[in-house]
Amino acid sequence: MADFYPQDVISEVKALNDIVDVVGGYVKLSARAGNHFGICPFHNEKTPSFSVNKDKQIFYCFGCGAGGNVISFIKRIENMDFPDALKLLADRVHFNLPEKGTSPQAKIQAAERETAAKLNKIAARFYHENLYAENTAAIQARKYLEERGVKPALARRFGLGLSPDGWTGILTAFPEIAPKDFETAGLVKSKDARFYDRFRNRLMFPIIDTRSRVIGFGGRVMGDDDGAKYLNSPETALFKKSECLYGLNLAKKARAQEIIVVEGYMDVLTMHQHGFSNTVGVLGTAMRGSHARLIKNAGAHTVILILDSDEAGIRAALRAIPVLIKEEIKVKILQLPDAKDPDEYLSRFGAAKFSVLLKEAKSHISFQVGLERGKFDLETTDGRVGFTKECAKILATLTSAIETDAYVGEISKATSISATAIHKEIEKITGENRAKSEFSYSPRRVVQKKAGEDAGLKNAKKGLLYLLFTEPEALAALKRTDISVKEEMGEDGFSKLLDFALTNAVNAPSDVFDFFHSDSDQQLIAEIFAETKEYPTKAAVEKALNDMVKKIKLSWLNSRMENEKSDLNAVKSIHLQIKSINSLNISLHDG
Ligand code: UTP
Ligand code: MN
Repeated sequence: MADFYPQDVISEVKALNDIVDVVGGYVKLSARAGNHFGICPFHNEKTPSFSVNKDKQIFYCFGCGAGGNVISFIKRIENMDFPDALKLLADRVHFNLPEKGTSPQAKIQAAERETAAKLNKIAARFYHENLYAENTAAIQARKYLEERGVKPALARRFGLGLSPDGWTGILTAFPEIAPKDFETAGLVKSKDARFYDRFRNRLMFPIIDTRSRVIGFGGRVMGDDDGAKYLNSPETALFKKSECLYGLNLAKKARAQEIIVVEGYMDVLTMHQHGFSNTVGVLGTAMRGSHARLIKNAGAHTVILILDSDEAGIRAALRAIPVLIKEEIKVKILQLPDAKDPDEYLSRFGAAKFSVLLKEAKSHISFQVGLERGKFDLETTDGRVGFTKECAKILATLTSAIETDAYVGEISKATSISATAIHKEIEKITGENRAKSEFSYSPRRVVQKKAGEDAGLKNAKKGLLYLLFTEPEALAALKRTDISVKEEMGEDGFSKLLDFALTNAVNAPSDVFDFFHSDSDQQLIAEIFAETKEYPTKAAVEKALNDMVKKIKLSWLNSRMENEKSDLNAVKSIHLQIKSINSLNISLHDG
């Protein structure tokens, strides 16, 4: 990654690999309205919404939101990490990459990781002790755990904690530690140079990697009124949500051949409580190749996926299957009857019943076939034909002839269609897949929409970043003022990108991607650059800048007003701020 190679090397490799050529090797593209369009290789679709822009050297799918530069594309389609993708592209044009060195940036990252690990450990201990304090909040939290069946020994094994209810709990507890360092670790946030705790009055779940480092936290609300149910550490140099599994530190010690994957923190806890200590949790993200590799490194070759028994859980299972298979992990699926998640199942029916279910977990093929079965009426010829065709697609993913034959037998029995015909259909599909090259196994992305985030506000945030990246005068103008919009940009990638825009002189869209590695960040950057906005005059740039800053600030103030409407003084102060924002005028002319 940018931590290994200097940016000029990365830029050179990109310059030699035109994105239209590279993508064209995987996806059939046709030119339309200044873009190249094709069928998106990252999700299933019939009409092309996948676009490649030659000028900006970026791709973006209007359907699933996947986006990035040429390196991101290779990473995803080949399921490689950054250095391997860069290497592939360098080889493609016979460019010799320099030996991997430790760039200054890599050193900064390493230092940040170290700081984060050290402070997270301190914080974990602090939250843990606070859970056992003699105050009302702690007593309540312990009672909550007891009610949910978490025994004290288990709480200790997982290092559970409680973050204090103030705004500066951790800051006051460790006056000798620089608030900035706590911020690097994702434990505090800052606004206008004031620092405050990220986690307040939450039940804390430290996330520990297999090297025993506390890499981040999940925090569950204790009251039921305070924002998101779970809050995670932000992505830091140390914490990458898609590169860790909750509970893997303990599950690895169980040395199981099978790893059970569940969706929630509480589910992991309850599973361990009932003796299923080979259980890990995905932290509110889709399963990735990186997760699969972690599981393999833990010595397991089979995954039993227990996803929440709702639509979203089924969709998540269907996306996870190819990702795991690609890493040569055997996949079984368990759909829980009469309970929404393992936690609920265990507390209602107990471990013995659960064990029986586990043994009956279906192969991913039976699971998928079962889902298709529900969509067709096998009493009719059309239904039998449709069902068999769908099954053929599923079976075409199998590499073992024996397995294929066994399933074909079952399907043939259910439909009275001859095994020979089904085999022929399967061969037809595998032939087509080969011709289409190797990308049939790509995790599907979900476009996540944060509840309550209104589209206009999101557009203003994207628009502001677009301006700051593409109009140097707008960037300079904003920097000249003492106006900060950092807090207002919110939790997601936006505030990170704002920081980046304000402090780095990077403005070629395709370069911005090299500094952010998670798919969600890349997706956001692609969204920002996907549409070209024309600002013909300086005045137009100035107006757009003011409009967007106002929109973002006002929306933030209005939501604060909503929250604090019972506090007269706060309301007054917010009114004043709204007034001053309304008369805001950032000028592009300095002085
Ligand atoms: P659930 O809402 O199913 O959580 O979300 P849960 O673990 O069953 O919750 P409780 O404690 O029993 O009520 C599943 C997972 O999705 C992520 C968390 O990792 C959670 O454990 N999530 C959920 C978030 O990151 N943020 C949220 O606001 C909600
Ligand atoms: Mn639950």
